Order: sequence, then structure tokens, then C-alpha cells
Amino acid sequence: MSLRTFVRSRKLTGALAVTSVAALSVAGVVASTATANAAPGCRVAYQITNQWQGGFGANVTVTNLGDAISGGWTLEWDFAAGQTVQQGWSGTFSQSGSRVTVRNPSWAGNLGTGASVTPGFNGSWNGSNPVPTSFRLNGTVCTGSVDTTTTTTSTTTSTTTSTTTSTTTTTTSNNPGGPKVDNPYVGAGVYVNPQWSRLAAAESGGSRIANQPTAVWLDRISAIAGNSSPTTGSMGLAAHLDEAEKQRAARSDGQLVFQFVVYNLPGRDCAALASNGELGATEIGRYKTEYIDKIASIVSDSKYSKLRIVPIIEIDSLPNLVTNVSPRATAVANCDTMKANGNYVEGVSYAVGKLGAISNVYNYLDSGHHGWIGWGDTVPEYDNFYASAKMMASILGKNGATKDKVHGFATNTANYSALEEPYWTVDDLVGGRPVKENAKWVDWNDFNGELGFATAMRAELVKQGFDSSIGMLIDTSRNGWGGPNRPTAKSTATTADAYVNESRIDRRYQKGNWCNQSGAGLGERPKAAPKTGIDAYVWIKPPGESDGAASEIPNDEGKGFDRMCDPTYGGNIRNGNNPSGALANAPLSGHWFSAQFQELMRNAYPAL
Ligand code: BGC
Repeated sequence: MSLRTFVRSRKLTGALAVTSVAALSVAGVVASTATANAAPGCRVAYQITNQWQGGFGANVTVTNLGDAISGGWTLEWDFAAGQTVQQGWSGTFSQSGSRVTVRNPSWAGNLGTGASVTPGFNGSWNGSNPVPTSFRLNGTVCTGSVDTTTTTTSTTTSTTTSTTTSTTTTTTSNNPGGPKVDNPYVGAGVYVNPQWSRLAAAESGGSRIANQPTAVWLDRISAIAGNSSPTTGSMGLAAHLDEAEKQRAARSDGQLVFQFVVYNLPGRDCAALASNGELGATEIGRYKTEYIDKIASIVSDSKYSKLRIVPIIEIDSLPNLVTNVSPRATAVANCDTMKANGNYVEGVSYAVGKLGAISNVYNYLDSGHHGWIGWGDTVPEYDNFYASAKMMASILGKNGATKDKVHGFATNTANYSALEEPYWTVDDLVGGRPVKENAKWVDWNDFNGELGFATAMRAELVKQGFDSSIGMLIDTSRNGWGGPNRPTAKSTATTADAYVNESRIDRRYQKGNWCNQSGAGLGERPKAAPKTGIDAYVWIKPPGESDGAASEIPNDEGKGFDRMCDPTYGGNIRNGNNPSGALANAPLSGHWFSAQFQELMRNAYPAL
């Protein structure tokens, strides 16, 4: 894993508005509702049979209580919250603004007294999906006694009952295996990986965090069945899911999120070497059949249908096709290859389509971090931010990757970027100019931390076509920056560099440094819904697992030696030729690195 920054020393600002994000849609899921209006003229039962993130299905039964109709009927209603009909059946649907009109099918224009028809449709919704309150049949408003429909919210069952007096609403934000909730982390525990937990607990002082949830990385095909890796080890995906189901069943709320990382693209980690993978640049066929299909077939087992399954999809992949390709000075040949052959886009869209088709899966895609993607500009060569969002949207429509299959995005995965800098902002003036323009650490980056970045990226992704209800995850496993070197106040220095360097909590040499960073600490403990638009703080990178070997180590995992993990290295263009800042003596990426684990605990912020 690696995260490359893009160094841009230039005097042209790409002012990026940090848009504030409207509150996420509440819509836990389906207030499966029902309504009905009956009248001397007609009665309607409107039944939502199924609802998921952004979409729903409904049946509308209209009963004619008046004179027999011949020669055609028309049913109309208004949606109150911008819902739209996508596809209908047993009637001809049209919509103009909020008004929906359903006409009889050509073969069924008659509707006798007491007779019913039930056209149905799939629709989309955003924010909320209230049931229409008024219907008209051939222009006559259906009013009168109430026919109540209660819909259960399971995707597979629904029941309809008729009463005369009341409307029942069932709310199912915790419906196991049913329609998706808006934020899977709310009201749920998160899976504790027993393998990581054992390694952590075996460390002196490690029991303080050994019960924290971390993600399971499927970093090669053999990890699906389980392999002999010292960290990912013998538990394969099914074994993890069996254990997750036990953890879920033991909880009083009966809800558990299972997080795993999908990380095995052909030509993986194209801009670096430490996490090159097993599949060559052209092996997209194997990626699909031996990796994604296998994962999907295990995850879709009904034994696991009560879990909220969260795949974090392909760290570092798509943004590399923006920042590390020709004609940029930062270009790397392998990234040019992956852009030209399309296999990152093909693989990511395939994973999204395939996994997203499983009803209890919540896909989150990797979207980099602010120290890499945080430059927005109208000049393409200097724009990482907008171009990355566009690149991510380029998966939509391919291989079944539709926007309803993308639940959100993850930032800072396996990186060290702080959530926010408490003592200064990029707009602070030193010598009359904002430090954004004249401090090397900032170098015109529009952001000062992951919260600002994730919030703005979320808004941009929505603009680019993702659903407005997407949520963000932020990996806070190693971005705490506590310990003795953490500043306690804003600097009083009068040069921009000194001011920023003395004020900042992120103690790296440069934000492009990504490998086993010296001085880093554990960050915020995993937490649901910490801020608006942020679904959770999560520990995706399991603390204690190395980012890459400090020197060449022969291996059969496809991993190379990247000098960004070598503490003696003076850097390259992608980190502004700064020292790597890596800890010494690190093992291969993914392997247990006790010295790093100890340092992360020492420098934890909040402290342990
Ligand atoms: C490695 C993987 C490992 C993951 C989590 C990545 O950098 O390449 O092998 O599973 O980190 O530690």
C-alpha cells in the first residue's frame, strides 16, 4: 500500500471551495409504510414492498367503488419528496414533475364495481420516501374509509392487512439482512478480528486496544481460503464471517458490521513497489473469476445475511490514474499501463457491481487522502481533486456498478493524515500572506486534514453522479500524532515555514510520506457517525502491520522493495525529495511490526 502525494510548487491557486455538506439523509431505511384512501369512488392501497439506498419498489392497488368503468382508467398521485418512477408494470406510467400518471394497460381498460388492479413500479428516492397521501381515479379523488397496508421490510416477504381505522408504520433501521440502512455503523458493533486481536494482546500493553475492530485484508487470492501469512493467517473469509456471525448473535442489538478490504487488482499499487500484488497488469480475468466471484459467492451465503458487510474497495487504485500518469512529472510507467489497459476501472467496477448486488453489502470505495488528492485546480495538470472524483465516477454504468451500489467512500486508508490541525489553518496570514501560498508543508493544498477533505470530496462525488446519501469513512488507525513532540499551541514564529512547522501536529517530513512513519500514534478509536457526512472513524489498516520492508526481503507475495520504506532514503519527486521518515527494520508490508505497534501506542492521541 502506498499513497503518493503530488508536489506542485506553483503560484497559482486552485481555490477549492470547501463546501459544507447538508445533513445526510436520515432514511435509515424503510419506514415501510402504507396508506390507503378509500372513497365511494375508489380505494387505494399503496404498498412499499422493498426499499434500499436510493431505490424502492411499490405496488398500488386501486379498487373501483363506484360505477363500472369501461374504456380506460387513469390513476394519479403526487410525490411529496422528489421521488421518481423508474420502471412500471401492469399499467403505463408517466411522470411530469411530482405528478405520476398510470393508465390502464391496453388489454385491461375495464374496471367493474369492486374490481381492483395493481400496477407496480420501481422508483428512486433521496432523503426520504413518504407515501403519497392523495390519489385520483379518472379524476375523482379517492377519499373515505381507510384501508391500511402494512409492509414488512424484509426484501422477500410482505404482508397486507386491511383494517378500517389505523395505519401501521414499521421502521426497520435495524432490519437484519433486509433493506440497507443509511449508516451501517449506527446501532451496530464492528467485527473484532481474532487474529489481529491475538497479535495485539501479545504485545506489552496491547490489551488496552486488542478489542478494537480492524478490517480483514484479502490481499491475495489465497487469503480467501486462508493462508500461512503471519498476519492475515489461517482464517479465510468464511471463517471470519462465521466468527462475525457469532459476534453479532452475542450482541443485544443483534447488529454487526464486518469490514474487509478488497485489494488485489491487476498491476496493484502501480506507483510504488511495497504492495505490488500477485496479478500482472493484464490478469483481469483472474481478478474477476478467482477473486471477486469467489468473495461474492461466500459473502452471499444466507448464513451471513444478518451481518452488515462493508467491503473497502481497492486502496490507492483510481487516484493513481490521475496523479501518477503521463504527462505529469510524477508519472510512473506502471500507472500509465494501468490507465491505458483500463483494468483498474474494469476491476473496481466489477467488484462494485458484483458485491453491491448482495443485499446486505455496503460498498465503500477508496478515495485517497488530503495530502495526496487535496489540490483542486482548473488547470488539469495541477488538479488532483476534481479529476479523482471524475475518475471514480467513471466506473458508473460499467459491469453493473450503479450508484445505488456505492454506499460511500473511505479516505486516509493506511495513511497518516491528521483529522484536523487544531492550532492553525491554511488561511492563516504570516507576513501578510496565507500560509497556503508560502509554507512548504501546505504547498497550495486546499486542506489541512481529513475532515475537511472528506467533507468536500463527498460533495464533489455527489456532483459527479454518486448518490446524495453517500457517507465517508476515515481511517484513524495511525493518524493520532500525540506523544512528546505534539505541539500544544500555535507558533509565534514570523516566517511561514517556521510558523507551520512549529504549529502542526502531523510531524512527517512531508505529506507524501506513507511508509511506517516515525512519530505517528494511534488516532481516534473507531466510532460511528462522528460528524455530519462521516459514517464512521474506522481502523482499516490494522495497527502493527507494516507498510513495507525497510530493505530488500525476498518473498513469494509479489511485494517489492520501495525505498520510501527505507529510513536512509532522501525521497523522490512524489514526496518533494524529502527524507522518507520511515522506521528502521520494518518487515514486508502486512507483516507484524512490533516496534511500530509500540510506538503507535506511545504516541496515541487521544492517549491510551
Ligand atoms: C499489504 C497487505 C496487508 C495490508 C494490511 C498492505 O500494505 O500490502 O499485504 O494485508 O497492508 O496490513
